[in-house]
Amino acid sequence: MANILIGVSGGIACYKIPTLCRLFKKEGHDVKVILTENASKFVTPLTFESVTGNRAYTGEFDPGLDPEIIEHIDLAGWADKFVIAPATANLTAKAACGIADNLLTSTLLVYTKPVIFVPAMNTNMFNHPATQENLKTLEKRGHIIIEPDSGELACGTSGKGRMKEPEELFRLIEGERPLAGLRVLVTAGATVEPIDPVRYISNYSSGKMGLAVASKARELGAEVKVIAGSISADCSEFDTVYVKSAEDMLNAVREHVGSCDILIKAAAVADYAPVEAAVQKIKKNDGELVIRLKKNPDILKEIAPLKKHSQVFCGFAAESENLNKNAIRKLNEKKLDMIVANDISRKDIGFGSDDNEAEIFFADGSSEHFSKGSKKLLAEMILIRAAGLLK
Ligand code: C5P
Repeated sequence: MANILIGVSGGIACYKIPTLCRLFKKEGHDVKVILTENASKFVTPLTFESVTGNRAYTGEFDPGLDPEIIEHIDLAGWADKFVIAPATANLTAKAACGIADNLLTSTLLVYTKPVIFVPAMNTNMFNHPATQENLKTLEKRGHIIIEPDSGELACGTSGKGRMKEPEELFRLIEGERPLAGLRVLVTAGATVEPIDPVRYISNYSSGKMGLAVASKARELGAEVKVIAGSISADCSEFDTVYVKSAEDMLNAVREHVGSCDILIKAAAVADYAPVEAAVQKIKKNDGELVIRLKKNPDILKEIAPLKKHSQVFCGFAAESENLNKNAIRKLNEKKLDMIVANDISRKDIGFGSDDNEAEIFFADGSSEHFSKGSKKLLAEMILIRAAGLLK
């Protein structure tokens, strides 16, 4: 059983942490808690001492501490897992900057393994570029961020920032990896169809949805391969095959689809490409320029005959009208197990955004709604459902 150190910073979500401690204790883990001064105003150290059976630490100079022991060194050495929950905007900023001005932040600097941060705060604070950059910095250093959910917040507003319930946090921190042993193939980004050596036809896809799927799949334990078209995000952390045109993407998917369990086809594939790309740069003239286009292969339709009984294929449908009808038609035509449909006429979700809202349709006729939330949360829902469909 593990030694679990929980750092609690001062936000209303503190009230969920004694329950989280109990869940770890019930599992047989030893739990110690460090509270910041503000956290101890939300929930008293005595509450944590009662549920953990250990001293709750609040400061480096608390009365009654053993003078022989340097607490931040000792606690960092003791912990097998270090969780910061809730991680306030302030605590997150201090951690990203390496500030060590209390027992919790000092212990963070001593701890050498990845830390699990569970940010929870008001939506505007969470979305603030400073907080977002701090979280990215922590993630780049190898720490794990458990993203907040969207929902009602204590400040009376509704939006992203709400901490997950203790039971779900417990499962995530325990490192349940529901996709362990599975291979997930993800296509992401836009295809690029050359007109001449300098011009091309493409679309606005940023590849963020595909990469959210790739990163969540890896977090859930899967072996991940990405086939990337034009993509604005960095996918160097994944085993990636880079392609340009729909034709290239088709060839790459053909080559790799046989060795995956789940295919998530998030790429925005151009439906048409120039009949042939001009070898030389097309010169400007006074008249109109006509570029003849040919239909691109539909990758999903082409590979449908290769699909094994044991595989699950998931497509995406980005629609500007008749969302449900079009998505269900594509699900059937492309012989998919599931399709994720989203409304691209909305400016607050989809293309280039970090958020999405979607309806997932399944081959058995059922569907499920995903209310507006991060692409990573949607990715989690897609992957869990896809894994659930595996025979
Ligand atoms: O473009 P469309 O709306 O038909 O895209 C639906 C799904 O089909 C997406 O998952 C997309 O990746 C896939 N697709 C494809 N080959 C195409 C066009 C789309 O595999 N030529």
